[in-house]
Amino acid sequence: MEFKTIEWKGDYIRILDQRRLPEEIRYLHCKTLSSVIHAIRSMAIRGAPALGVAASMGIALAAQKIKSNRPEEFRKEMKEVCIRMEQTRPTAKNLFWAIQRMNKILTLIDRYGVEQTRRRLVEEALKIEREDVEVNRRIGEHGKRLIKDGDGILTHCNAGALATAGYGTALGVIYAAWNDGKKFQVYVDETRPLLQGGRLTAWELIQEKIPVAVITDNMAGVLMAQGKISLVIVGADRIARNGDSANKIGTYSLAVLSRWHRIPFYIAAPISTIDLNCKSGKEIPIEERPRKEITHMAGKRIMPPKVMVWNPGFDVTPHTLIDGIITEEGILRRPFRNSLRRMKVE
Ligand code: MRU
Repeated sequence: MEFKTIEWKGDYIRILDQRRLPEEIRYLHCKTLSSVIHAIRSMAIRGAPALGVAASMGIALAAQKIKSNRPEEFRKEMKEVCIRMEQTRPTAKNLFWAIQRMNKILTLIDRYGVEQTRRRLVEEALKIEREDVEVNRRIGEHGKRLIKDGDGILTHCNAGALATAGYGTALGVIYAAWNDGKKFQVYVDETRPLLQGGRLTAWELIQEKIPVAVITDNMAGVLMAQGKISLVIVGADRIARNGDSANKIGTYSLAVLSRWHRIPFYIAAPISTIDLNCKSGKEIPIEERPRKEITHMAGKRIMPPKVMVWNPGFDVTPHTLIDGIITEEGILRRPFRNSLRRMKVE
């Protein structure tokens, strides 16, 4: 992939502005914590693993800007920084997981002192970024055997290089199979309201010369009924202990349709997306997004001014509808709690 979703530049973070894709390749130069927070909230950067990387780099950046070298003051300011970062987006577990890793570094201020803690925070953020790409490649290696020549693969939203530090999760599986020489057709839901499928996934796959057709979100059923889909692979934002998985709104409908048509339905996600504190999907916090994302398109109002809307960013697919969860350690199967134990995640 030629582009980099996010890059640490020493005194700023360079973020590819995904709101403008595919028409324009424009980078944001985030020099402050507030600008990173704004990039996350406004979805200039999005996708669970990418949010983890952005959060850790944002925290490392904020640490460089704090003037005080007194451990007490530094600790207090950094605590505020982490709280602000936690309030950016609620659903992606990877964001909270990355903040936790940064917090661990902060607990050792007394041992290392402020100056060294600043350096260690940067090192940790870069490590989270590096590990993400490696993990995605391993997800790809485990998942690629699910794909056969001639498959029709349906995906939703964007779980590709743009949603991660590189390569992607669901798209990582597709890239790995394609690089092995398998030939197949990808279909992607446009993914209303923000069109991550039509804008981002299609853009990524076209660059890799992988055949891709965009469909609107209401077309999957008929495509399945016509026998054109043999596999569904999507990403996840948070996976509960029983395997219930939150992903972009519309994923649940695909899982129901897949079961009816007896099509295998897989989630591809790193272990950092699994939240052992959530017993089931009922405990996963679901983000509610602004009404304007639905009532407007390309800046133009397309609905009556006072109409009521509901705009949840995610839905939860019950574990009973999921055939497997492709992780960097292998493919988890139902009952997911047992395979989590076997994989020593729990
Ligand atoms: O609202 P978004 O665009 O951040 O939602 C992204 C998704 O739902 C992805 O499928 C998920 O984060 C997995 S990304 C590898």
